[in-house]
Amino acid sequence: MSSKTAARVVTSTDFASSDLFSAHGFFLLETTLTPALFAADAKENWKQHCVRCHGADGKGVTKMGRKLKIRDLTQERTQKRLADDDIADLLASGYKDNSGEERMPAFRDKLSPEDRAALAVFVRSLKNGPSP
Ligand code: HEC
Repeated sequence: MSSKTAARVVTSTDFASSDLFSAHGFFLLETTLTPALFAADAKENWKQHCVRCHGADGKGVTKMGRKLKIRDLTQERTQKRLADDDIADLLASGYKDNSGEERMPAFRDKLSPEDRAALAVFVRSLKNGPSP
């Protein structure tokens, strides 16, 4: 059932509800369902493109992570370094060290802007430890 169908069920079965309540119910369904759909995609992309360096849990405890001295993405300190937009930008352009050597690849050609934005949200979720 799509979120729109669900919203219609709520509004048509609840005659006592005011228009405002219906609109609010619809809003809630939209906002609670959408991030979940995003998260599934982002998690797939995370597994496919990021885990080999950052590790499934984002702590960076991998061979590559040690070699590249990757920061622990679950730490508050790391999370605070970057705004959401910065993360999305970083995913587009990758990361080079001061000598111009590539350390994190650019994902501009592999991930759409929507995918990158969703991954930025996913990276935020790592702060509270790995999701199931
Ligand atoms: C080849 C290894 C590699 C891959 C693959 C990789 N990264 Fe990175 N990532 C790095 C390195 C190196 C850094 C810079 C060091 C650091 O800040 O941890 C970095 C930094 C980051 C940072 C910023 C941390 C900070 O504080 O500056 C984020 C967020 C991030 N990566 C997310 C991702 C996501 C999401 C993906 C998958 C789309 C990904 N990375 C794929 C190596 C990688």
